Amino acid sequence: MPPTLARVAILGTGNIAEVCHLPALLAHREQAEVVAVADLDADRAVAFAATWDIPASYGDLATMLAAERLDLVIVCTPPGAHRDAVVRCLDAGVWTWCEKPPTLTLADYDQVAAHEREGGPYASYVFQHRFGSGALRLRDHVRAADLGAPLVGVCHTLWYRGDDYYAVPWRGTWENEGGGPSMGHGIHQMDLALALLGDWAQVTALNATLARDVETEDVAIASVRMESGALLSIVNSVLSPRESSYLRFDFTDATVEVEHLYGYANADWKWTPAPHVEPEKAAFWPASTDVPSSHTAQLSVVLEALRAGRRPPVSGADGRRVLELIAGMYQSAATGRTVERRELTPDNPYYHSMHVAPQELSRA
Ligand SMILES: NC(=O)c1ccc[n+]([C@@H]2O[C@H](COP(=O)([O-])OP(=O)(O)OC[C@H]3O[C@@H](n4cnc5c(N)ncnc54)[C@H](O)[C@@H]3O)[C@@H](O)[C@H]2O)c1
Repeated sequence: MPPTLARVAILGTGNIAEVCHLPALLAHREQAEVVAVADLDADRAVAFAATWDIPASYGDLATMLAAERLDLVIVCTPPGAHRDAVVRCLDAGVWTWCEKPPTLTLADYDQVAAHEREGGPYASYVFQHRFGSGALRLRDHVRAADLGAPLVGVCHTLWYRGDDYYAVPWRGTWENEGGGPSMGHGIHQMDLALALLGDWAQVTALNATLARDVETEDVAIASVRMESGALLSIVNSVLSPRESSYLRFDFTDATVEVEHLYGYANADWKWTPAPHVEPEKAAFWPASTDVPSSHTAQLSVVLEALRAGRRPPVSGADGRRVLELIAGMYQSAATGRTVERRELTPDNPYYHSMHVAPQELSRA
């Protein structure tokens, strides 16, 4: 019998848990109750539970899983801890909704997926910008081919992160963050672009570390050929003082754009018909109800899937696509050549790591 009031726990009681997940859960209090939290920093977990009136707190996931009857764990740890946490939950029969990036590698993603079971538990991942009304409306138009063929895309994540941001030990490292702005920041816009345009075929990329004291890149650019034939241009930066998250899609019949920073509403979308399109037709393109992109919007969909016992969106193949593009971008940037999506198989070192040692590059 699916739960009517899902019993939810949060793993990792840091910034994103407090700023985004707790408000999302409170907005769904009719469908979900937060029964426990856990954090390696047990004092932090205790303080979080006290602040938000959560009945139980733990210093590690295993103890929490043993003590609590849970339906869903929301994983908010740093990226390097995602894989093991999600696997442990799935093995305990508990669904997960894990923060981005899903895992550090494609190999880890596939390993996690092998612990899912038909009908649940499933692992799904946080890509909240897929779930605002603007993106959902565009997705429906693309599926119905209302706007003609997709031809050109622009996908910019131009953010600013100063040296203080990288004082947190897990940031800017291959081992714990898994990459730079392609893995940690631009992943949102790239995921949305792929969710709308479908699979990519080829990527050519450049990475640079220009201004931050980090192991990874601090700026990346890429040119992508989609399976449809459309071309997509990507820039991921943490060096850009005027910050912007910008997506633009040119179809045969329309240009559709959204510009925002960390979340959009309908007003951030611009729909421009091509000269041959009748204005009366274009008037019906934009979304009418306004649902901003947010953790709250995606949580509705996760809880619905949990109740129905079916795979949520951003899970399985649908959650993997962006990680595959990122692996291709790192491989292309390191090898100086165009990478085909079909190359990212288990015999490719970039299936196993986004950062391949120089002596292994000859195999890539
Ligand atoms: N979706 C978004 O828009 C968005 C925005 C920011 C961050 N994030 C993601 O959220 C995650 C967390 O980021 P944050 O900024 O909240 O980090 P944070 O450092 O503020 O919090 C992480 C917490 O996890 C705890 N922790 C670390 N390892 C653990 C483990 N193995 N078990 C239990 N607890 C553990 C830490 O003690 C800390 O309290 C990252 O994956 C990040 O990429 C997503």
